[in-house]
Amino acid sequence: MGDSVVSALRGVDFRIEMGENVAIIGPSGSGKSTLLHILGLLDRPTSGEYLFAGVDTDTLDDDRLAVLRNRAIGFVFQSFNLVSGESALENVASPLVYAGVKRKERIERAADALGRVGLQDRMHHDPSQLSGGQRQRVAIARAIVTRPALVLADEPTGNLDSHSSGEVFELLQQLHSEGLTLVTITHDPRIAERAARVVSVEDGVIAAGAASVPVDDSVFAPDALAPGALDALGLGEGADR
Ligand SMILES: Nc1ncnc2c1ncn2[C@@H]1O[C@H](COP(=O)(O)OP(=O)(O)OP(=O)(O)O)[C@@H](O)[C@H]1O
Ligand SMILES: [Mg+2]
Repeated sequence: MGDSVVSALRGVDFRIEMGENVAIIGPSGSGKSTLLHILGLLDRPTSGEYLFAGVDTDTLDDDRLAVLRNRAIGFVFQSFNLVSGESALENVASPLVYAGVKRKERIERAADALGRVGLQDRMHHDPSQLSGGQRQRVAIARAIVTRPALVLADEPTGNLDSHSSGEVFELLQQLHSEGLTLVTITHDPRIAERAARVVSVEDGVIAAGAASVPVDDSVFAPDALAPGALDALGLGEGADR
């Protein structure tokens, strides 16, 4: 910031296993969103290493990072980030446009994702015609439509009333139990209570929860990270960098 250097994170060293359900908590300004942006390949750390599914992300150029992000990671934000003027279906289908999926399959998969979040009867609505909780469910459908291995949520219930928060919370837990790795920044004690692991960030440092919690990895075998899948995207060990 101007002449002063802000170290949003310092000396962070931790690992998230496939299939974990992690809550990130901590005071405002402690570095939670910065950490999530690095995990989600939206920001690069100024120093240190980040391995995603064994791939050193520092060796990937921006195009390859974008491909990996598109195929393997879904994002959910506090403010939904839906595009108005586009239907719920079009919003949900949009990551598949970047993934190069043909139109007919895009519509089928987007409709299927909207069904999973209980909004099959709202597909053709504009986001402005939906309640806050419904908007966040559309955003969750958009996050899972690419069948990602990992979903990152930054205060997903922060803008919702208590009833809608509960619905969104239950939906995320359900998706985790069906095989997603889930990382949620939250101020909601209910979410933190349910997560198997709570990572506490304070002043740019991981103050607690640095150790991962073992999971039964036979349940979690996402297509996106199957052996050879990263190679097929040009991201594996043998990739030309
Ligand atoms: N683009 C930026 N330029 C400069 N400083 C930044 C930038 N983004 C974040 N920071 C600083 O980095 C630190 C961590 O910010 P971050 O957004 O990660 O916090 P947070 O824990 O998510 O907070 P909140 O709970 O309020 O969302 C803060 O001191 C913040 O002011
Ligand atoms: Mg934040």
